[in-house]
Parts: sequence; structure tokens; C-alpha cells
Amino acid sequence: MLNTERELLMIPGPTIVSPRVLRALSKPILSHVSGEFVDGYAEALALQKQLFMTEGTPFMLSGSGTLGMEATIANLMEKGDRVLCVENGFFGEKWEEVVETHGGVVDRLRFEWGDPVDLKVLEEKLGTNEHKLFTVEHVDTSTGIANPVDKIGKLAKNTDALYVVDSVCGIGGMPLKMDQWNIDLCLTGSQKALGAPPGISLFCLNQKAWGAVEKRKTTPTDYYVNLKKWKPIMDNPRGYFATPAVGNVLGMLEALKMIFEEGLEARWVRHNKFSEAFQAGVKGLGWSSFPAKGYEAHTLAVPKVAEGVDDARMRNIMFQKYGVVIAGGLGKLGGKTVRIGHMGADTINDLVATLASMEMSLTEMGHISDPGKAVGAMMKVFAK
Ligand SMILES: Cc1ncc(COP(=O)(O)O)c(C=O)c1O
Repeated sequence: MLNTERELLMIPGPTIVSPRVLRALSKPILSHVSGEFVDGYAEALALQKQLFMTEGTPFMLSGSGTLGMEATIANLMEKGDRVLCVENGFFGEKWEEVVETHGGVVDRLRFEWGDPVDLKVLEEKLGTNEHKLFTVEHVDTSTGIANPVDKIGKLAKNTDALYVVDSVCGIGGMPLKMDQWNIDLCLTGSQKALGAPPGISLFCLNQKAWGAVEKRKTTPTDYYVNLKKWKPIMDNPRGYFATPAVGNVLGMLEALKMIFEEGLEARWVRHNKFSEAFQAGVKGLGWSSFPAKGYEAHTLAVPKVAEGVDDARMRNIMFQKYGVVIAGGLGKLGGKTVRIGHMGADTINDLVATLASMEMSLTEMGHISDPGKAVGAMMKVFAK
């Protein structure tokens, strides 16, 4: 590949970061107790609450999405507690390991990868009232499915169990209304639909979740993610518990400002359109989508690789010749699907170029004889 330093990063996270966020990241490092940084951290936390649509407590720590999962389990659960893991993909299943690492008892509610959560079955499970908390993926990035977290929230209202939503690949690109949907703890990471680099873990706890932290009988065995240690810092970032990632926090602040300049709802509409256009493009290619129809996430596309296509070779041509990076299938979907992120700071041009490079690569491989159909279908959606 020509070394243009302009490769198009279209994997489902980390995603492209806007030049404005990059400029914020390139500034000289500030002291973590300087007025400029402390004010910036406080502003970022206030915007985080708006983003999650909650009156709860925001936490913004150095780490990735997995840190948020760990903090959730380490603080809400105590050894021996039962946790219901609602799973229909790789990331739903990842919770099991986190729970077991912390001495919890996993009760798994598994659906086929790509199938939506069956609300009736979930309601019955929650009716047993034996779970301290239950975990749900907003978007499972392995399959491209978006679960109905709003409807699940209605079930959560009638249970004592804490409702935990992993929105690492949702929030900022799809509607997520934490308080309105009765979500007790919601988490995300900086590197997906928020349009910031990896390195920041963001999550919020409502009063019910914070009450559970306060009422614990045992101290969390993890020192760094003990939220009681962090709460005073989140209330007033002038204090110290551990050094914050000064540059990343300010990059996150810039990305959050950009989200609200665009408008949260406008951003949801843009991502919806991205998804509609990509789905049309996939159809134009003669391929089909992996997640159940009507449940496709708006932040990424997960098409099934057509019969006889070597997706690794296709992705290699896309990268070497066109400088476009997409991801292969995750876990058991390796070789069966590809994953293309379309979120955050991505633009229409990025999506058109990505699909065009896919079509051209498939033409070179002899799978397509008449390129342009997929891009044409996508263009029709965008030009509407
Ligand atoms: C839905 C979901 N949850 C959790 C994670 C884990 O986040 P991280 O890789 O930032 O630790 C990811 C990562 O891609 C994800 O997509």
C-alpha cells in the first residue's frame, strides 16, 4: 500500500477521530490539578450525564470498555451473588467471565447469535427474583444486533435486580435514555460512536445502583475500580485518587462537545441513515445481513460473506490497494461475516469509499462482473 498516512479505518472501533479531537489531543500535557484541566474534566462529566440522559453519577476513568464491565461487577456484586447474563453474541457472553472472576454465580440466558432477546423468556427469568443484577448488550458488536433495551427496561421496572446495559457500541449513535428506560448502570467506551480515541471508560450509576454500592457488606477486592474511592473525584475533579489520563480526558471533552453541537437526536438520525444506506448497499452486492431483520444496529453493518468468497483476501485487497480497513467476523463468525463500523466521526464519503473498495475488490477476485450496484444502492439512500 502507498504510505499516504490516510488509511480509512472502518472497523467497529476504534473509529476515525476528527481533526478537531486530534488537535485537542496534541496539546501540551497539563497538570492534573490545574484549573484548566479540572474545569475540563468537570465539563466532560456534565456532558456525559447529558449523553446518557441520566441524573445519576457519571464516572470517567482511564481504561477501555472492559474496565467498565469490571467496575460494574466488582462494585454491584458480592461473592456468591447470582447474575443473569443475557447473551446473543460474543460480548454478551464476555460478562460470564467477568462475573466468575469476581466470584459470582452466572445464570446464562442464551439466544442464538444474531437473534433478538425473547422478552417473554427474559420476563420469566426475572420473575424468579433471584438475581442481584442482569446484563444486556445494547449493541453486540460481534453480530451487529441491537437489542430492545427500552422494552427490557419496562421489565426491569418490576424487579429488584439491577439492570446493566453495555452500550459500548450504541450510545452516541443510537438512542439510549438511561433514566427513562430504567437502566441502573450503563457503560461505554470512548473509541466507538463517541468519536474519541480508545482509553476512556465512561459509565453512569443511578440511585438504585449507587445504593447497592453503599449497602455492600464487603469491600471490592479491586483497588483501582473501587467506585467509593472515585466518587469524590467525580463530584469534584480537583481531588486525587489516581492520575487521570489528562490528554485523553480533554480529547473526550472535545468529542462530547462535538456530539452536542451536532445534537444528540440529529446524530441518531444520521446513524440511522448510515445504517439504511449500508444495508441497501449490502443488498445491492447480493449479500445479506447477519442480524435478525429489524434489529440491525445503526452503528455497524455485519454482512454474511457470500458463498465461495475468501473474506480475508478481500479485506487484504481493500487494505493494500484502497487503504480501507474493515474487520473480519468475531469468534465463531470468523470467515462467515465481515464487520464494518459506520459511526462517530465517519462521513458519507467514508461509507461510499468503503463500499466501493469492497465492490472493486470482489470484482478483482472474480465474484462480481458489473461493479457499481452496491454503491449505486447506497447513493440512492444518501441522495434522497
Ligand atoms: C459491545 C462491546 N462491549 C464491550 C467491549 C469491550 O470494550 P473494550 O474493547 O474497549 O475493552 C466491546 C469492544 O469492542 C464491545 O463492542
